[in-house]
Amino acid sequence: MARHLITSALPYINGIKHLGNLVGSQLPADLYARYLRARGHEVMFICATDEHGTPAELAAAKTGEAVADYCARMHSVQTALAQGFGLSFDHYGRSSSDQNRRLTQHFAGRLADQGYIREVVEKQVYSHADNRFLPDRYIEGTCPNCGYDKARGDQCENCTKQLDPTDLINPRSAISGSTDLEVRETKHLYLRQSALKGDIAAWIDGKADWPILTTSIARKWLNDGDGLQDRGITRDLDWGVPVKRGDADWPGMEGKVFYVWFDAPIEYIGATAEWAEANGADDAAWRRWWRLDEGAEDVTYTQFMGKDNVPFHTLSFPATLIGSGEPWKMVDYIKSFNYLTYQGGQFSTSQGRGVFMDHALEILPADYWRWWLLSHAPESGDSEFTWENFQQSVNKDLADVLGNFVSRITKFCRAKFGETVPEGPAWGPAELALIDTLTTRIRAYEANMEAMEVRKAASELRAIWVSGNEYLQSAAPWTVFKTDPDQAAMQVRMGLNLIRLYAILSQPFIPFASASMLAAMGTDGADWPTDVAQALQALAPGHGFTVPEVMFAKISDEDRAAWEARFQGVRT
Ligand code: 2FM
Ligand code: ZN
Repeated sequence: MARHLITSALPYINGIKHLGNLVGSQLPADLYARYLRARGHEVMFICATDEHGTPAELAAAKTGEAVADYCARMHSVQTALAQGFGLSFDHYGRSSSDQNRRLTQHFAGRLADQGYIREVVEKQVYSHADNRFLPDRYIEGTCPNCGYDKARGDQCENCTKQLDPTDLINPRSAISGSTDLEVRETKHLYLRQSALKGDIAAWIDGKADWPILTTSIARKWLNDGDGLQDRGITRDLDWGVPVKRGDADWPGMEGKVFYVWFDAPIEYIGATAEWAEANGADDAAWRRWWRLDEGAEDVTYTQFMGKDNVPFHTLSFPATLIGSGEPWKMVDYIKSFNYLTYQGGQFSTSQGRGVFMDHALEILPADYWRWWLLSHAPESGDSEFTWENFQQSVNKDLADVLGNFVSRITKFCRAKFGETVPEGPAWGPAELALIDTLTTRIRAYEANMEAMEVRKAASELRAIWVSGNEYLQSAAPWTVFKTDPDQAAMQVRMGLNLIRLYAILSQPFIPFASASMLAAMGTDGADWPTDVAQALQALAPGHGFTVPEVMFAKISDEDRAAWEARFQGVRT
């Protein structure tokens, strides 16, 4: 049994996330956490809402709420949706927590003590029309690196370059569109990332096993001429973690807050501390996950995120941890994702384009979405959601292959043998061959899950379902029953045990359906099938079961067309 710390990138608090956000971090992280728990490992799966910064301020201003109230409300909305999708966080924290405030101020103090902070009087963009300093991402303009004309002041989403707003060509306010901008002087703290370049490069060099998507982005920003520049970590805003040096005031920094990207990754640690408090545990309980000197030496730490988050997690956050001079646990493996596109275009939160988590659950159960998203995860490149493809996968994989198997065998058994597992003779050649095939496939499935090859794992799981169907098709107990009911009983016993086996194996992908399969089989014994032959004896003759409700209803052409029409415009 090993100890696994898993974090998903923290979703911004403002607004409801779309399916592209979901498949880019939270959902695959959940898949991995569920799998590792099922294998008996000790797992700490952490996520939180990313609450600071101007997006939250502006969203609150729109609804007329105080920003703290807005965040509290949206946190419960996001928590309910996470539960609806079966995201099995050990804790879903909030970056505005006391724990994160204290940790963020602690790290800033340590970085200053180690000589990694410098104070800079800089020029900041002030918007007369908006009556405020404009935070980086609320200044738009042309990217000096690639020429994209909607680059934001913090990062260009086209080429992923981290930017400073004053780098932009032809800047304008993204709030009002005004170009009546003035550059004013203001003092800020800079993290001397450049001084940590050697340490970070050495650390990344040690990560030979990382996916190319992750290391190529990291190396690009590390080695490009201007890579790993020093970065401002404070802002002139009201909402955020107040700038302090540990517990002490920071002269000259009154009224300023830390930059949201400084405190957000620290919340991975903060949320673990929140978990300890919520569970009545002491500090040692969370520190054993995060401090190498307090038990985290044997922790394996995996992060999940979209590719746009990679620079912050391979450069900026490691700079914070290394620069603190304290023995913090650093990430062992970063699993990053490309983008999911929607019907030939982009999912877009600002434009309300695509399917969002709340609407998705309104129209179909979570497992339908989980299955499609995970089996089409944008791993090696972007992938595209189309309603047609979604309908096809759901109808074929879930309804025809898995659902049909479950309903056919349980209904046949009820009709011929009643609602208990029948006996019959020992396995014959066909059953032994099936056990062999399943063993090979299950080992491959495990290998893919361990390597976080999400699509490959999904296709192996589908193949495992298919082999049961093929067995049933060729065994044909409904025909055999007419001449040899005893033999048919044995085949049905195999079929019912396969349902239990499938429930256990499928649980990381489709936890709700798995739970109903186990409930129908009258068992909660869900030990991982290390020994497949043994697992297929788990439901002994005489064991009671029930026929489950229709597990997966097919998506009709009418439904598909209606949803396609409903979600083609902007979110309302
Ligand atoms: O890109 C985003 O959605 C950010 N809210 C991710 C933050 S991840 C972490 F560092 F907190
Ligand atoms: Zn660019």
